[in-house]
Amino acid sequence: MDKRIVYLDRNENQYGPAPNVFDLLSRLDKESLCIYSKDFERGVKSRLTERLARDYGVPESQIIPGYGSEDLLKQVVHCYVGPGKAVMIPNQSWWYYKKLAGEVGGIQVEYSLRTNGSTFEYDLGHMFDLFQRHHPNVVLIGSPNNPTGNSLGREHLERLLEGMKGTVVVLDEAYLGFSGSKNHYAKALIEAHPNLAILRTFSKYYALAGVRIGYAFVGKDLPELVNFSARYLGYNRLSEEIAIAALNSEAYYEGIRQKMIEDKEMYYRGFDGLPGFTAYRSDANFILVEHPARLKQAIKESLEARGVHVKFFNEAQFINHMRITLGTQEQNRLVMETITAAVKVPNVA
Ligand SMILES: Cc1ncc(COP(=O)(O)O)c(C=O)c1O
Repeated sequence: MDKRIVYLDRNENQYGPAPNVFDLLSRLDKESLCIYSKDFERGVKSRLTERLARDYGVPESQIIPGYGSEDLLKQVVHCYVGPGKAVMIPNQSWWYYKKLAGEVGGIQVEYSLRTNGSTFEYDLGHMFDLFQRHHPNVVLIGSPNNPTGNSLGREHLERLLEGMKGTVVVLDEAYLGFSGSKNHYAKALIEAHPNLAILRTFSKYYALAGVRIGYAFVGKDLPELVNFSARYLGYNRLSEEIAIAALNSEAYYEGIRQKMIEDKEMYYRGFDGLPGFTAYRSDANFILVEHPARLKQAIKESLEARGVHVKFFNEAQFINHMRITLGTQEQNRLVMETITAAVKVPNVA
């Protein structure tokens, strides 16, 4: 392996996007760049929302394009939360969730996930309790959640939605796709629960983080959000064409999914064989690993010596955890071998 730094600390997809994406870029003509998309003349927001409406059977009017799911999260919170209004977020979550309430002078109510062996899970009773006490305007749920890697199952999600009518529930599915191809439940969910917004992105599974494109399926009770996000002159035609080329490349991405599923198993076996380690089961393209406190420095130094960055946390609750983004199979084997050697237990992986 060369001396380049391998960034396995940011949950990007090291395999890169499908060849179709590069073909598209090499065929661009000037009109793709110099004229407004004018998709509104056909009564739709964009060619991407039109395509997604066809694929998922969701009315185009209930699909919002965005500049990645970061942008969509920000739009939801800026649209529905303001001074004195509460937003409920997971305590173990992507740091950016914790920034959003402050941006609008809102109140942040944090709920905790709990562990069940080597899996994190949502604690519905605890969430309902906080919900009833704080009457939040928005509830954010990550599924799969970052950094814990767990998903919220359909049955539990339905129960939460039943109990949280009248508030905006946001399901952040940024890491959808890495553990399976099921993704067609969006239509049924937003029909049954019109207070739901499901956010998706092309950054992770489709390996297009640099392109900044995502979308939301929104229930009928959220017209304010649809208005809030409307852009008269259209959206980014180039990002949309790239996203569509990725959607047309399912076989390529299926290949990556299979490799990542194999590699997560390799990591679970490896870490389960190391005394004092827990690798939490993950539906995403990363795993959260708890390690003995005394080994932190040795692990860090040995990975750094090989030019590999994984994520170590400053938060007290994760002070003895690292989050390892899945890279290529070669990179993943290198990480497992390096950590195994650093803790002096040979031949674990
Ligand atoms: C849970 C979660 N949601 C959303 C995002 C943002 O993704 P995007 O690139 O679509 O803005 C991230 C990025 O790491 C994330 O971890």
